[in-house]
Amino acid sequence: MGFSVHWHLLAALIGLLYSGGEVLGNCTEKNVQIQGGTYKLTKLLQTGSMLVYECPKNYYPYPDLTRTCHANGMWKPKPLKRPRCKMVECPDPNVLLYGSVSPPQQRYFVGNETMTECYSGYKMRGSLRRVCLPNGKWSGRTPICSRDTGDHCADPGIPAGASRTGNSFGIGDTVRYQCSRKLFLMGSDERVCQENGQWTGIEPSCYFSYTYDTALEVSQVFGREIINSLTNLESVDDTMETRKIRIPKNGTLLNIYIAVDVSDSIEEDYVKNATRAVKELISKISSFAVTPNYEIVFFSSNINQAVNILDFYNGVKVNLREILDNFDTGDRDGGTDLNLVFHHFLERMSFIKAIVNASEFKEQYHVIIVFTDGIYNMGGSPLQTVERIKNMVYLNHTNEMGDDNRVEHLDIYTFGIGVEIFSEDLKRLTVGTGGRHFFKLKDYSNLQEVFDQIIDEAQVKGLCGLHFGYDHVNGTLNERNRRLYPWVASISITLDGTRRNCLGALITPQFVLTAAHCFVFDDLPANINVEINDQEPMRKAVKRLYLHPKYNISAKVKEGVKEFYDYDVALIQLEDPVHISILARPICIPCTLETNTALKLPADSTCLQQRQFLLKNQIEPLNFLTKSNGLQKKTVRAKLGDNRVACISHALQADGITTKKAEVAVTDHFLCTGGLEPERDHIACTGDSGGAVFKTFEHRTVQVGVVSWGTKKQCKGGGLVESNADSRDFHINLFDVVDFLKSILANDAQEDFESLVFLEN
Ligand SMILES: *[C@@H]1O[C@H](CO)[C@@H](O)[C@H](O)[C@H]1NC(C)=O
Ligand SMILES: *[C@@H]1O[C@H](CO)[C@@H](O)[C@H](O)[C@H]1NC(C)=O
Ligand SMILES: *[C@@H]1O[C@H](CO)[C@@H](O)[C@H](O)[C@H]1NC(C)=O
Ligand SMILES: *[C@@H]1O[C@H](CO)[C@@H](O)[C@H](O)[C@H]1NC(C)=O
Ligand SMILES: *[C@@H]1O[C@H](CO)[C@@H](O)[C@H](O)[C@H]1NC(C)=O
Ligand SMILES: *[C@@H]1O[C@H](CO)[C@@H](O)[C@H](O)[C@H]1NC(C)=O
Ligand SMILES: *[C@@H]1O[C@H](CO)[C@@H](O)[C@H](O)[C@H]1NC(C)=O
Ligand SMILES: *[C@@H]1O[C@H](CO)[C@@H](O)[C@H](O)[C@H]1NC(C)=O
Repeated sequence: MGFSVHWHLLAALIGLLYSGGEVLGNCTEKNVQIQGGTYKLTKLLQTGSMLVYECPKNYYPYPDLTRTCHANGMWKPKPLKRPRCKMVECPDPNVLLYGSVSPPQQRYFVGNETMTECYSGYKMRGSLRRVCLPNGKWSGRTPICSRDTGDHCADPGIPAGASRTGNSFGIGDTVRYQCSRKLFLMGSDERVCQENGQWTGIEPSCYFSYTYDTALEVSQVFGREIINSLTNLESVDDTMETRKIRIPKNGTLLNIYIAVDVSDSIEEDYVKNATRAVKELISKISSFAVTPNYEIVFFSSNINQAVNILDFYNGVKVNLREILDNFDTGDRDGGTDLNLVFHHFLERMSFIKAIVNASEFKEQYHVIIVFTDGIYNMGGSPLQTVERIKNMVYLNHTNEMGDDNRVEHLDIYTFGIGVEIFSEDLKRLTVGTGGRHFFKLKDYSNLQEVFDQIIDEAQVKGLCGLHFGYDHVNGTLNERNRRLYPWVASISITLDGTRRNCLGALITPQFVLTAAHCFVFDDLPANINVEINDQEPMRKAVKRLYLHPKYNISAKVKEGVKEFYDYDVALIQLEDPVHISILARPICIPCTLETNTALKLPADSTCLQQRQFLLKNQIEPLNFLTKSNGLQKKTVRAKLGDNRVACISHALQADGITTKKAEVAVTDHFLCTGGLEPERDHIACTGDSGGAVFKTFEHRTVQVGVVSWGTKKQCKGGGLVESNADSRDFHINLFDVVDFLKSILANDAQEDFESLVFLEN
């Protein structure tokens, strides 16, 4: 509905359509043009239409970003000055204490650089050199000059454009911030020095009306916050010390309410983009191993309900994806009634409270996420309703509270999305501890991507196989590899001056799964070099090597199989557990409880059910990696069921095989890939051995096999080499070696490492 043309073209066009000129009640285009820029109208010249100014990069519309056509035919606000595009500025950095910023200027424009120097005796933290960016923010981090005064917390600094009250940093001391006139304070306006030496909240920053959050900022900051909302911090008592780890909350006790503004102050395209973003958010939440109850509504002056949370309580099966794919947001009108939305959520909460008993309600958590342009023009302010929601969740009016800190049971996030955002209003509606619950974005265009990029940087227990989405990973080759394939281990064995290379997969923080044939029996741990792509040093000391007890390469020499690879699996125990992070994390393996969660199977699913789920098709697409020019992903299709016999028959063409029966060499324990049907597969190369053969689901990856051997030795150096009609590869099917994995990894008796929970059957 909106359109964008240069203003004089638009004027000509409208002139043709309305040759009568001004019509009472509608606005005109007299004196609306902006010097140096263009504008677009959301609803032509009708009442309620929004005039959105647009300026070239590094410029912003002044004095107003937008204007609205009022019923009397006037554009409001009426500019006091002639609209023009002004150069973007950054907030004043000369608020620094105990140091100086050069060059000293009255105002700093986009592209201007500053250097910070601390007075003698003061040490600097933060960025020495900063540049004013096109969004009105400074690059880098706030510079802080401080002296060690023995205070409990470090000097929290003063961000550009802000002022601070409070100059002592002992336990319980408070600092307060304000932004200078016209700037909006994002982040915490008050911070308290805690016993652990950290300040509460997050560093504030001062935003101009034209300053928006970047995609990266939202995914990092909102990511951290939402993970806090989805998980609980619990203490574990190790023998050594008490650690805190994050445990996903019990989904049945977690209620998530999502509201999306579709009022017509928002463009058509936005609704599609918003729906996509909501789907991505839900998919992301489920990757954190929680399956909450959802209420999802689209709203304008009324509410259009997509998902009813009470269905979850009444045992109705809800297919969120299907509902959102097919949902029509229906009539949209000019109104935005945010109060109605909060009322609706409040009502849902009272229903839930009526369904479950009081003690269960007390256990529950509520997370509200609202996307809106923030112009609520009807229904009044939602503040009172938000207070009532707080009272309901905090149990303030009853005696049920106990000494619980109820604050953790409610989070309200607001996303202001649009050119003109009423930040103060939206920020006031947020609720929750932590740093930030309000975000400001110019449009929905990359919100889906933003949510996709949220990843568990904290250590949430039990999230095997979690990795970055494939679409949005930037950076150097090495960085990409780490984020896409955080389980990969590179293995090399040096013996008598020769070197063999293999791949492996981290399957617990302390164990790497690989192929047995990478080793000869007298390999000492010291000869085995294992590298995992986390922080330096990447090389990990090896404690012990376990080969499958039934692996015997010469077992069938007499039967015409020179090299027999049945049970070709081995486990390498590392001396120390790998630090789990976004760069290094175990892949999921079959027949474990964690894999049920990762696959969103019911918690009591059996090993057989996992097998049926993972290897259910006659042609099952799988992947494995090759190391050449970084890591590259190979695509293959396992031939199962009726297709298997033909696939393995090609084993008879391999060197060293003289038996007439393929199944003598290729036992039932192998998955067979390769050939041209139904599509041309990649083939395994020499260095690919031992690597994981895997399947990827939404954000999670499960290993089903180990690369073992093939009929052709066509590629020594690795790389993406394609199959011909005869080449076939054979991979150990992990479901057939679970007993071996279990015998080592499920061993509770040892104190060496954390054991893995395997399914009973
Ligand atoms: C305003 O313009 C619309 C067409 O865009 C027209 O239908 C309507 O009658 C006009 N309103 C008045 C009060 O003239
Ligand atoms: C700061 O930026 C403005 C606008 O680009 C420019 O005119 C000015 O020279 C810059 N100042 C410095 C010190 O670079
Ligand atoms: C989650 O909570 C529900 C309701 O209290 C309970 O029935 C269920 O057993 C819990 N699940 C887990 C895994 O704790
Ligand atoms: C409340 O419900 C839970 C499970 O639904 C049950 O375990 C508990 O005993 C109930 N409590 C009361 C006071 O009825
Ligand atoms: C209501 O409960 C919350 C959370 O426990 C608490 O922070 C707040 O002070 C209480 N408000 C009143 C008025 O008691
Ligand atoms: C919707 O998303 C697409 C793709 O990200 C983008 O090109 C488009 O500009 C977005 N539209 C709006 C109105 O945000
Ligand atoms: C990745 O890089 C491309 C090209 O440099 C850029 O257009 C894109 O915005 C980047 N994506 C992210 C998520 O940084
Ligand atoms: C491997 O199998 C061969 C042939 O059956 C047997 O002679 C040999 O002892 C086996 N080796 C091991 C280590 O079990």
